[in-house]
Amino acid sequence: MFTTVSAPSKIILLGEHAVVYGVPAVAIPISSLRATVEIYESESEFVIVSSTTNSGRSIEVTSKDVENPLIRIIQQVTEHFGVTYPKVRLVIDSKIPIASGLGSGAAVSAAVGRAIATAIGKNIDNDLLNQFVFDVEKIHHGTPSGIDNTVIVYEKPIIFEKGKPIEPLKIGQPFHIVIADTGITALTRESVADVKRLYQEKPTDIKKIFDDIETLIRQATQHIADGNIKQLGSLVTLNHHLLQKLTVSSDELDNLVNTAISNGAFGAKLSGGGRGGNMIALVKKSDITQMKRCLLDAGASNVYDTQVV
Ligand code: PMV
Repeated sequence: MFTTVSAPSKIILLGEHAVVYGVPAVAIPISSLRATVEIYESESEFVIVSSTTNSGRSIEVTSKDVENPLIRIIQQVTEHFGVTYPKVRLVIDSKIPIASGLGSGAAVSAAVGRAIATAIGKNIDNDLLNQFVFDVEKIHHGTPSGIDNTVIVYEKPIIFEKGKPIEPLKIGQPFHIVIADTGITALTRESVADVKRLYQEKPTDIKKIFDDIETLIRQATQHIADGNIKQLGSLVTLNHHLLQKLTVSSDELDNLVNTAISNGAFGAKLSGGGRGGNMIALVKKSDITQMKRCLLDAGASNVYDTQVV
């Protein structure tokens, strides 16, 4: 092996789905949960990507798999620098659950992009990598807003608004989030398509929900800047109720949200595409261990925590 590179997972604190329609959203990288790529020299003529994910799947991808998103990112990087595929073997080890709203696809793409740039001896800056990962996200998601690739490539808490420069999130006081996985995978592409259908059927009602989300996000970002975590928590829960109205929650997500709130969380909501995947809860530092236990007892398949600083 000659080196290792990586990229983090992420959560969306506020604003998923509405962000696709131009509403700002807040996203936070999870640096402790990452996709890692080991780079090995190889005799082989082609790049071979061997992918082991925590789902237990192991797949091999070669440069002949031109439709594969992993090959797409390799193609973009090598074409940009005007070089042929290097003789390397990339081994992906991602701890990020797939199709669970934690940005697994974007994290793997970002890590592979960094790996291939390293293998050809080039430095790829984050602006360029972000463009490349966004293109690959289109294969995964159809019409992504760009929030996942942006928070993952820059690895900083951000306020993201489509078509606008990235705004760093101002944090007045660090706060803690517990993440709980329903263990149910769900395709973001499908929930995004369903929200689109709903918007076409009931434009006035759905526009009102997006407007309400925008209002709460503007208040929430001010609370984050001022360190008012309790008030932020109420808005997080309000965001969950608005996501329920967009039909992207599920019984399992609602159960975890209710468990978190009845056990003292400041607020809780689904995070990401919804219908499955992960729930997030804002909690006091001293409550983290107990909250994780409650969420596991309530059926979560896995729990994590992170500090937002
Ligand atoms: O990839 P996910 O499941 O975290 O969803 C990303 C957030 C959405 O707003 C649902 C989609 C998007 O492209 O912004």
